[in-house]
Amino acid sequence: MELFSSRIFFFILFIATSCSSEYTRPGPRHLVFRKNDRSDSEPQQVHISLAGQDHIRVSWVTSDKNVQSIVEYGKTSGKYDASATGESISYRYLFYKSGENHHVKIGPLESNTTYYYKCGGSGPEFSFRTPPVAFPIEFAVAGDLGQTEWTQSTLTHIGSMDYDVLLLPGDLSYADFQQPLWDSFGRLVEPYASARPWMVTEGNHDIEKMPIIYPHGFKAYNARWPMPYQESGSASNLYYSFDVVGVHIIMLGSYTDFDANSDQYKWLQNDLASIDRAKTPWVFALIHAPWYNTNLAHRGEGENMRQALEQILYKARVDVVFTGHVHAYERFTRVYDNNVDHCAPIHVTIGDGGNKEGLARMFNIPSPSISLYREPSFGHGRLRVFNSTHAHWSWHRNNDNDTVIADEIWLKSLSSTTMCK
Ligand SMILES: *[C@@H]1O[C@H](CO)[C@@H](O)[C@H](O)[C@H]1NC(C)=O
Ligand SMILES: *[C@@H]1O[C@H](CO)[C@@H](O)[C@H](O)[C@H]1NC(C)=O
Ligand SMILES: *[C@@H]1O[C@H](CO)[C@@H](O)[C@H](O)[C@H]1NC(C)=O
Ligand SMILES: [Fe+2]
Repeated sequence: MELFSSRIFFFILFIATSCSSEYTRPGPRHLVFRKNDRSDSEPQQVHISLAGQDHIRVSWVTSDKNVQSIVEYGKTSGKYDASATGESISYRYLFYKSGENHHVKIGPLESNTTYYYKCGGSGPEFSFRTPPVAFPIEFAVAGDLGQTEWTQSTLTHIGSMDYDVLLLPGDLSYADFQQPLWDSFGRLVEPYASARPWMVTEGNHDIEKMPIIYPHGFKAYNARWPMPYQESGSASNLYYSFDVVGVHIIMLGSYTDFDANSDQYKWLQNDLASIDRAKTPWVFALIHAPWYNTNLAHRGEGENMRQALEQILYKARVDVVFTGHVHAYERFTRVYDNNVDHCAPIHVTIGDGGNKEGLARMFNIPSPSISLYREPSFGHGRLRVFNSTHAHWSWHRNNDNDTVIADEIWLKSLSSTTMCK
């Protein structure tokens, strides 16, 4: 009922606001709507995220408001010798009232260890594995996920190979104001996001601003997907950073202020200044709207942010910038201010997770020399960091078997590149 009434309302809003695109996208696949099959007091939409040194935040939703925000956990299935409590929040959005969103930080945890856990005292047992304490570490990277049959295909591919942490450069559920779709998305990703930390930053589809009633946006996103911003000295869930095994990862916000007077800019300056390359020889950044893009989709949308922040990321010798937004894959060379620069980050667009809008097919012809590989196919990326000097990036299409690598490159860390010190 709620889904239906808000659908009509937003169909009108959609017609009014989103008819600006010139390019044609191929037919997307169907929506996968996941219904709740658990009782009101049982946890659903369980997902975990890294929350400061040796800690993990466990997040879940219950329909029952009276369920306690408690996580019981241990290293043996069914035997929980530790527990922690946290907090829960609910929110309203037009006619929709959310369930209780529970968030509990647990730890200290041992590295490279499987923990079994239960949320709120009932329901199924879940398990996750903590990241290792030393190299190697493997990241799965996927942007613009949504919840279609293509999304399911991407998730199946991601789940078929082992990884330590998932990185998502924005646009999670594509609920687009229909709040029950945030719940459905949470259920769709639960098998993966309850087992490995999922670290996300926001995209335009996560904003859900409405004049007067929701002027700041991100109501559902912030309530459901809190990231370790306080742990990284940020005042906003829309940008933060974290360290994991010799890697410093900066999650930036395309949809909050980034000019030189903004909180994000000041926070980023401090964050970059505090990086210790002896401890984290690698630095990666994730942003939703790409700064470099030869696709016709979303042309120029990241340009203001590039002009504001590119120089400080460059000076800090960020190794790779991963972005989403454009529903295709594109890999650039090391580039700074539109020119090849061997001490600048590589830029990779990986907005091809499988959302309902389909692929962005049209690229500039001829391809500018800074763009080395581009293709409109659904897929995901793998980043294996072997040691302080070497990492391997690969891109895998959903149309191929998981072992097939469509694009790949060996990376050498800038911190180990003498001419870039
Ligand atoms: C993690 O643990 C597994 C088995 O428990 C072991 O094979 C692997 O080498 C460990 N990895 C690291 C990086 O410590
Ligand atoms: C780092 O890893 C790469 C790739 O596995 C390897 O070739 C290189 O020898 C390693 N370097 C060190 C110092 O172990
Ligand atoms: C994937 O692997 C399966 C079984 O190993 C095989 O039947 C299928 O043809 C493969 N598909 C592709 C695209 O290589
Ligand atoms: Fe987007």
